[in-house]
Amino acid sequence: MAEKIKVLLSEEEVDARIKAIGEQISRDYAGRQVHLVCVLKGGSFFMCELAKRITVPVSLDFMSVSSYGSNTKSSGVVRIVKDLDEPLKDKDVIVVEDIVDSGRTLSYLLDLLGQRGPKSMRLCTLLDKPERRVVDVKVDYTGFEIPDEFVVGYGLDYDQRYRNLPYIGVVELDGE
Ligand code: IMP
Ligand code: MG
Repeated sequence: MAEKIKVLLSEEEVDARIKAIGEQISRDYAGRQVHLVCVLKGGSFFMCELAKRITVPVSLDFMSVSSYGSNTKSSGVVRIVKDLDEPLKDKDVIVVEDIVDSGRTLSYLLDLLGQRGPKSMRLCTLLDKPERRVVDVKVDYTGFEIPDEFVVGYGLDYDQRYRNLPYIGVVELDGE
């Protein structure tokens, strides 16, 4: 089906907000090293831009979980597809996500990673859809709260496409 993308957050707005979060994290973690854990694939664009804006020492790791199929509805199933390379023990960890929607993925992931003995663990998400929350999740750094609409760009996909858009857009299916 053909679809159109309507801009919700421009490239400039997203970049400015990421810069501000990077500055905030640099202040909050002054004198420490932060270990950024990227949740693939959606979190990757955000994490790279964020890491560039952090001025304290940064290390990076990646993991992949599956929670969605090729449609726009949550399956509720969370599975580790790729685990981290490094242990989290005694690290100041920030989990970097593209979006918190129902909260199922993050709730599961934070429980699991918390058991690995990080010194501290916070959650940073580019987008948050608070209206959609099913499971309570504490978000420490949020880029933008957005309404309950399906968005793409900056790492977020619709059927694996549009991740490379430099802005956040809303998918409008033709005929709607
Ligand atoms: P949750 O477990 O429902 O919070 O879902 C989180 C995951 O669902 C995100 O990491 C995204 O991969 C995906 N997701 C949720 N909402 C959207 C959206 O609007 N666009 C694209 N992906 C989304
Ligand atoms: Mg994701």
